[in-house]
Amino acid sequence: MNWGTTEELIPLSWFKHMRAHSPVVYHEEQGYWDVFNYEDIKSVFADHEHYSSVTTDNVTDPIDASILKLDPPKHRQLRKLVSQAFTPRVIESLAPKIESIAHELCDLAEAGGRMDALHDFASPLPIIIIAEMLGIPAEDRERFKLWSEALVGDDYDAYLQCQGEMNAYFSQIADRRRREPVDDLISNLVHAKVDGEQLSELELIGFCILLLVAGNETTTNLITSAILCLDTSKESKEQLIENPGLVPQAIEEVLRYCSPVQMMIRRVKQTTVLRGRTLQQGQMVQVRIGSANHDEEQFDHPERFDIHRSPNPHLAFGYGIHFCLGAQLARLESRIAIQTLLARFPHYERDRSHPLERMKSSIIFGVNRLPLILRSS
Ligand code: HEM
Repeated sequence: MNWGTTEELIPLSWFKHMRAHSPVVYHEEQGYWDVFNYEDIKSVFADHEHYSSVTTDNVTDPIDASILKLDPPKHRQLRKLVSQAFTPRVIESLAPKIESIAHELCDLAEAGGRMDALHDFASPLPIIIIAEMLGIPAEDRERFKLWSEALVGDDYDAYLQCQGEMNAYFSQIADRRRREPVDDLISNLVHAKVDGEQLSELELIGFCILLLVAGNETTTNLITSAILCLDTSKESKEQLIENPGLVPQAIEEVLRYCSPVQMMIRRVKQTTVLRGRTLQQGQMVQVRIGSANHDEEQFDHPERFDIHRSPNPHLAFGYGIHFCLGAQLARLESRIAIQTLLARFPHYERDRSHPLERMKSSIIFGVNRLPLILRSS
């Protein structure tokens, strides 16, 4: 797809080169492995006996203490607990709320005839929804938004400060919900039990913070990338305006083409062999989801953005026991966001006087901003 930039936003040529010449490579200086092929990456995700999600010994960060960074049997237990609060019924029940927020955000932008798709639309939506799910009272929303921004920002002091504030805040809410449960995620979490065991206070807070970090930034980038891809592929956009029922399939193609999480990390738990290379116990492994999803062995013409691609077994949400717990929520939010935007402003166009710039991160893919000119006819 031609985004009109002089450089690739995602290093697809480099990925292709690595898949062909060094699919499993050790970087001596930095001391980690890089894995580029679809099948290899899937096998790493599937094999938690050899590849551990526990990637640090010194746990100081709530994310490092969260479900994302656990191996079985502890992972299985925690996953069972939190899945109870993340059922399809809970997710589906959010649809009307997501729709009304998407419309409100479009209303705000309509008069000015412009919006930054990232800051004015794709970013507020998932934050408001997760606050709603957790049961954060409306008067605390602003504070909540500042925390979620600080959690993914570059300012480490701000990060630590917000972590402290969030710990205190969530433990207070958890206390209240323990005494007086209401119909929200925190009430469900404080009362959920597996084999008679409940979540500890630290696990509960770690999980809430993980939802903010893992859920918001990724979904925001998925929605923004979908808006960008459809602006670039006008034919796909026309087809979706004509037939909004195709949006879910188009979202899957955006997940493949511009995977919001470009890589994940594992640590070798027991020395093992991958594609003829020996990976020693303790070494780190980067699995390049972004490359797997463009692997020509798996996808015909991976360079084509094809909203009709079927099947589309991308690895954007991972694979195996850590498969993204929020995948259905992310799919629902992005489907409603795109259907609403196309219904309200079918002729939106990217303002090309602003060059596209990728966010400075090799883990997350997203652009820094996406100014749009809005037209309803
Ligand atoms: C796990 C991607 C949205 C919550 C994961 C993993 C990936 C991923 C790749 C697997 C990590 C691994 O194997 O180490 C994404 C993408 C999203 C998204 C691309 C949006 C487009 C969300 C949302 C939530 C969420 C909206 C919740 C509100 C989680 C949790 C896990 C996870 C809790 C850990 C599951 C476990 O360890 O068992 N996600 N995610 N994600 N995601 Fe998502």
